[in-house]
Amino acid sequence: MTASIIAFFNQSGGVGKTTLTMNIGYQLAILGKRVLLIDLDPQASLTTFMGLKPFELEQTVRDALVKEEALPIHEKIHNMDLVPSNIFLSESEMQLVTEFRREYRLKDALEPLKDLYDYILIDCPPSLGLLSVMSLVAATRLLIPIQTEYKAVEGTMFLLKTISDLVRKVNRDIQVLGSVPTMYDDRTVQGRSALQTINLIFEQLKVHKNFQKAQVYPSIPRRTDFANASAAHQPLAVFSPGNDALKPLTQIAKQLDETQ
Ligand SMILES: Nc1ncnc2c1ncn2[C@@H]1O[C@H](COP(=O)(O)OP(=O)(O)O)[C@@H](O)[C@H]1O
Ligand SMILES: [Mg+2]
Repeated sequence: MTASIIAFFNQSGGVGKTTLTMNIGYQLAILGKRVLLIDLDPQASLTTFMGLKPFELEQTVRDALVKEEALPIHEKIHNMDLVPSNIFLSESEMQLVTEFRREYRLKDALEPLKDLYDYILIDCPPSLGLLSVMSLVAATRLLIPIQTEYKAVEGTMFLLKTISDLVRKVNRDIQVLGSVPTMYDDRTVQGRSALQTINLIFEQLKVHKNFQKAQVYPSIPRRTDFANASAAHQPLAVFSPGNDALKPLTQIAKQLDETQ
């Protein structure tokens, strides 16, 4: 079976993309799945969270994209494999500007790996530039983390419209899985109403073909241990085995695997 390639995408930063990519990846790995994580953000948070030092890396995802070399894979970090990134990735958009079919570079680089993994998770940068387009072209499925705060939700309709337009332009075959509400605080009116709004918007979006099967996945609660776990270079399940935020993470991983 070939890999399910999931892009974790939202053009805003700080919504929980990287945290979710690493933790969902880990949950899939402990279900026995072969998981590859791709850091496609020049800020290299995923690379750092996984315990590598971005500035010390001789080869990163950039080399594969710009020079069409094989993707450099770091094996067996918390049961997952990782293709790291660093700040030099930010130059690749410029370096590729005159290249024909440049938006296919990641898809082509993943081609020889598709039979080696069950899941390839792409941590996208917070932008709508070439790197994001590349990840949407390469992905078979799309998951959109959305922060459950008034400020974030206000722009959600616009965000999803942009994503829907982009998907229609670059990859009509992508399956929009839906949204994972993040940093959810059920004790605040703001948190609850943000979640309600996300649910409503996804209902309305069902008229768009891309979003017909999209769903709102279980919410990830706001827990400071997410940041502590990342600082300790560990998935939440390793850092804080009793944490209640593990329940939705496990649930999402199971749902992803069932909709395979
Ligand atoms: N559920 C959560 N609860 C509390 N803090 C979180 C949660 N998810 C992520 N964070 C923290 O929020 C910040 C941004 O998260 P990150 O995953 O890097 O977002 P993005 O990749 O979208 O920029 C990080 O400091 C991270 O530790
Ligand atoms: Mg990130």
